[in-house]
Amino acid sequence: MKRRDVLSALGLSALGAASLGGLALAVPRGQTGEMVPSRVPLPRPFRVPLPIPAVARPVRTDAATDYYEIVQRAADQEILPGVRTRVLGYDGTFPGPTLVTRSGRRAVVTHRNDLPGPVAVHLHGGHTPADSDGYPTDLIQPGGRRDYTYPTRQRAATLWYHDHRMDFTGPQVYRGLAGFHLVTDDEQDALGLPSGERDVPLMISDRSFDEDGSFSYPASHHGAGVDDAHMEGVLGDVVLVNGAPWPVLEVAAVRYRLRLLNASNARRYRLGMDPARTPLVQIASDGGLLEKPIEHSTVLLAPGERCELVVDFAAFPPGTEITLRNSLGSGGTADVMRFRVTGRGRDNSRIPPQLSRIEPLSAERAVRTRTWTFRRSPTGEHPGWLLDGRAFDPERIDADVRLGEIEVWRFTSDLYHPVHVHLDPFQVLSRRGDGPGPHDQGWKDTVDLAPSESVDVAVRFTDYPGRYLLHCHNLEHEDMAMMAAFRTT
Ligand code: C2O
Ligand code: CU
Repeated sequence: MKRRDVLSALGLSALGAASLGGLALAVPRGQTGEMVPSRVPLPRPFRVPLPIPAVARPVRTDAATDYYEIVQRAADQEILPGVRTRVLGYDGTFPGPTLVTRSGRRAVVTHRNDLPGPVAVHLHGGHTPADSDGYPTDLIQPGGRRDYTYPTRQRAATLWYHDHRMDFTGPQVYRGLAGFHLVTDDEQDALGLPSGERDVPLMISDRSFDEDGSFSYPASHHGAGVDDAHMEGVLGDVVLVNGAPWPVLEVAAVRYRLRLLNASNARRYRLGMDPARTPLVQIASDGGLLEKPIEHSTVLLAPGERCELVVDFAAFPPGTEITLRNSLGSGGTADVMRFRVTGRGRDNSRIPPQLSRIEPLSAERAVRTRTWTFRRSPTGEHPGWLLDGRAFDPERIDADVRLGEIEVWRFTSDLYHPVHVHLDPFQVLSRRGDGPGPHDQGWKDTVDLAPSESVDVAVRFTDYPGRYLLHCHNLEHEDMAMMAAFRTT
């Protein structure tokens, strides 16, 4: 079959008007998802300041461990100016507080659940023992609490924590359960990268708002997940950065480190600066520093992915406005945020030509190749998303993997699927049989698969035996069972 026939045989609506002769209307290009229109008047962009989430303080520390406490609760937050939105928040805020932990120091985070429904907390990118990894059925019931232990035996990186409740991750993250968790270490501190106020976490997520100001999530009426009309993924029409719509950050004409995280349920972004006079210098990806900086004119970011950039505003005179745009968006979703240069500043930062060393996981050392297929398919009465032809079963182990061994995992797709693996990062070996793409460098834990694509990655799990997950990070696909469990031994 030709590609087009394959696609129409699947009955897909998410391919954009071009491939279906103009039948698909509201489907933005480069996306697998359906737009939910807001039903409140939306603000004009670039009016509100960029919020920076508060950094959590340990409630106590001892020689080896920092202890934190987070209460998950509902609260009203003014996200759109003059509109109150009920959020489900870590400490009642969206985004939640940022945890900053040191490589080699243990962090114990006690979560208390003051929400009406169960929750599970996953540290995305964490090298975490299985009982603290937030398996979707390891729930904290309302009124309950649980300690999550993070040994932090991993290098510096931009991690994030978010809800992972079985069948409800999409709605719960959408309503606010997401925050940053930054790991720091000596290697990174020694580089002289921009730091302090010039090291800025940017959580990008799209949302839509209902008439009463609430987040508009098209939940299904039979309980779990999303309604059938939005099974492709929920796309919002407002772009939030750190929970604010199209915000503005005032900057000096110096270098900044921008830690980009795509925390959207389903939306992909292609981000670039306008005017484009300043290159985007990538220094890190999901699993921390790259070996060497890479210059991009735009960066592609799928749900779950992180990309760290150093951007130098030195070329812009005070008063210049530089807009971060999304070329995969249209209308409001084509804009993300704005930087306003307020004045000159002293800048001692630098970008060393060598950032780190990365041990290559070569395919020759792999003990086997496993194939994982991400495809849409009905499950019983309802449409669903399957991994290897099966719906997720939390009691089933889909693969046994030995700790310390390298394996090649081949991911294949029908549509866009951002594939995420828990426990340890991987390295991208090839895309469609060619080399890795421009955004595949370094240690990754989430890789963006385009329609009908095949991507080979090298995985190697270390330290912790137990049950872990591999899944699509389009949260609607995840909730509709595009997830598998592997066991490390
Ligand atoms: Cu960011 Cu299994 O998740
Ligand atoms: Cu998917």
